[in-house]
Amino acid sequence: MEARKFYIETYGCQMNEADSELVIGLLRGANYQPTAIPEEADLILINSCSVRENAEKRAIARLTQFKSLKKKKPELLLGLIGCVAQRAHDEILTENKFVDLVLGPDSYRNLPEYLNQEQMPIVDVNLSRTEVYDELIPSRNSVVNAWVSIMRGCNKFCTFCIVPYVRGRERSRSPQSIIDEIRQALNDGYREVTLLGQNVNSYHYGANRFPELLELVAAIPSLRRIRFTSPHPGDVDEKMLAVMQSHSNICKQIHLPLQAGSSRILKLMNRSYDQVHYLKVVNLIREFLPQVALTTDIIVGFPGETADDFEQTLQVMQIVKFDSAFMFKYSPRPGTKAAKMTDDVPEEEKSRRLKAVIQLQKSHTLERNKALVGTVQEVLIDGTSKKNPDEMIGRTESNKIVVIKEGHPKIGEFCNVQIEKAMGVSLFGKII
Ligand code: 5AD
Ligand code: SF4
Repeated sequence: MEARKFYIETYGCQMNEADSELVIGLLRGANYQPTAIPEEADLILINSCSVRENAEKRAIARLTQFKSLKKKKPELLLGLIGCVAQRAHDEILTENKFVDLVLGPDSYRNLPEYLNQEQMPIVDVNLSRTEVYDELIPSRNSVVNAWVSIMRGCNKFCTFCIVPYVRGRERSRSPQSIIDEIRQALNDGYREVTLLGQNVNSYHYGANRFPELLELVAAIPSLRRIRFTSPHPGDVDEKMLAVMQSHSNICKQIHLPLQAGSSRILKLMNRSYDQVHYLKVVNLIREFLPQVALTTDIIVGFPGETADDFEQTLQVMQIVKFDSAFMFKYSPRPGTKAAKMTDDVPEEEKSRRLKAVIQLQKSHTLERNKALVGTVQEVLIDGTSKKNPDEMIGRTESNKIVVIKEGHPKIGEFCNVQIEKAMGVSLFGKII
């Protein structure tokens, strides 16, 4: 039988990217081939994110756009999968009558079977306590980095966050299946691995916690770069840092979501650490790993955040000087605890605060990047510059982008690069 064609769009975090790779693997197994042209597809899937209202709106808007294609081609199957499907399946079905498939993050395994059914729409939003898609083989989309999901779900229930509701409870994959998947990725030519989990350092399988798993992964022959994201500051311990210190193939880079600087707000967020503890964790990390690059997530305008609370976010940023940060205005998510609090910071004030953190972070990013000028960094080449196809792009161990003008190294190559300039978020250098 001739292969049918599918088109997929992915929104949100790396976990969603990794999930789409699993879905693509499943579809290929069901005799579907990918196409980059939605008009050619027999199946269109949108893997959606619901972490903020805007992300959710974007996914629904895309779905609505594809409605016209379905009008022209009634046999086209249109599916919304992922976190928005999980959170808002009722609304989606009543407001978007043309949707055929609505699948939450724990239902992907059933997709091939659903595609053969006559009766649409199909809604499957069962959350599982065990599903980790262990033996499924992802069909990777990336060039040099392989995403490897090691755990799913979250038990932390930060009051602003929809994740525990749309991705269910924490569960971890066996170390053996993780190692097998990484070996396969290396065989397939991937040069770097990023271990993924909503709370990656809550990993826990039998006697193996995150530090033990890291140690096992670091011992895989010919694996030169290991990253992980995102750890929770409350779960960072000396053991994890000691393992990072003793293995040169674990990148000295940690994404450590701060969320807010004020201990009062952190408490309202149910973040399980206060400002003092967060700064202690940062100091401990820097004791173990002096060259570490630290990045973070920051939310401004959480319910009840006063000018003084916000000032403390700026102060923590000043003390830590993050290498980079993702910064967001607070967005109430239906069903979370924070959504029941009064969203009392006016929109203009949220915008003002967001502008202030972005501006401060820009100066820190530049300062941290300038400190690398004159040093030699190992860069893993992962693409060509969009501005100039003669220039190659790669990443340092600290995950900073480097533009290389001359020498034309190959994608997947490791090069030693002398950093000559820092501008915006990028570094510029030459191969030595
Ligand atoms: N509003 C704004 N930002 C949020 N995040 C999570 N939930 C919300 C929300 N309701 C941010 C956090 C998290 C990142 C992935 O998204 O900073 O670390
Ligand atoms: Fe959301 Fe908090 Fe879990 Fe992160 S730790 S996924 S912010 S609930």
